[in-house]
Amino acid sequence: MSMRMRKKRNFDARMQACGDLLLAKGANGILNMKEAAEHFRALIDFSAAFGNDAPIELEIGCGKGGFICELACKKPNVNYLALEKMSNVILTPMEAVKAQGIENVRFLNIRAECIPCYIPENSLDTIYLNFSTPLPKLGYASQRLTHRNFLNVYKKLLKNGGRIVQKTDDRDFFDFSLEEYKACGFALENVTYNLHENGNPEWNIVTEYENKWVEKGFPIHRVEAVVIK
Ligand SMILES: C[S@@+](CC[C@H](N)C(=O)[O-])C[C@H]1O[C@@H](n2cnc3c(N)ncnc32)[C@H](O)[C@@H]1O
Repeated sequence: MSMRMRKKRNFDARMQACGDLLLAKGANGILNMKEAAEHFRALIDFSAAFGNDAPIELEIGCGKGGFICELACKKPNVNYLALEKMSNVILTPMEAVKAQGIENVRFLNIRAECIPCYIPENSLDTIYLNFSTPLPKLGYASQRLTHRNFLNVYKKLLKNGGRIVQKTDDRDFFDFSLEEYKACGFALENVTYNLHENGNPEWNIVTEYENKWVEKGFPIHRVEAVVIK
């Protein structure tokens, strides 16, 4: 998304109207995970936030949120966290969740780098990484959401046996990610380089970006990386 994207009309009032769905807001100028963990601790009480103790799954970089809304409707007995750094972007799924009366989704308007401040260890069943920004330049490798610095944090936040489910259209980013998972001791399952080879599998929820790339005929890569503690 362009840095010059215009703020949505009546942004502040609209954000406020969905405020009860927002569990965390703002990066507080913190840009890396070490700083975040040292400076700030505001661990979320999920039982209080959702009003139950159902399993928790997290999507990092939810964008317009079509994936998380559809998944939450399909699985009402799971609680979903949708994380997105851009407040102008996260407003769209927040409003959709409000309008549709979806009860099992909450939002984190923070950078992924800050998750250790908010998410307790051993609390997540699944982390979804859907079409994360590939950041192909070598100098940005440590900012890729599957860099080992992130994977080691995800590992702590996931329960034993929990998994990361990643989809991407970018082959170089996918290959990089597979190597990072292996280096961090994750077990790889259900690896595919062409998820839509025989049409969309009936269980697969197509994200906004996925739809774009599938329409252009690009293959979609997918992996599940399981934590063994
Ligand atoms: C390419 S879009 C994919 C959106 C959606 N998941 C989909 O598949 O349609 C990537 C999204 O991740 C967000 N994002 C990128 N880096 C992030 C970070 N470090 N922390 C939080 N969100 C991030 C971007 O703002 C953007 O909305």
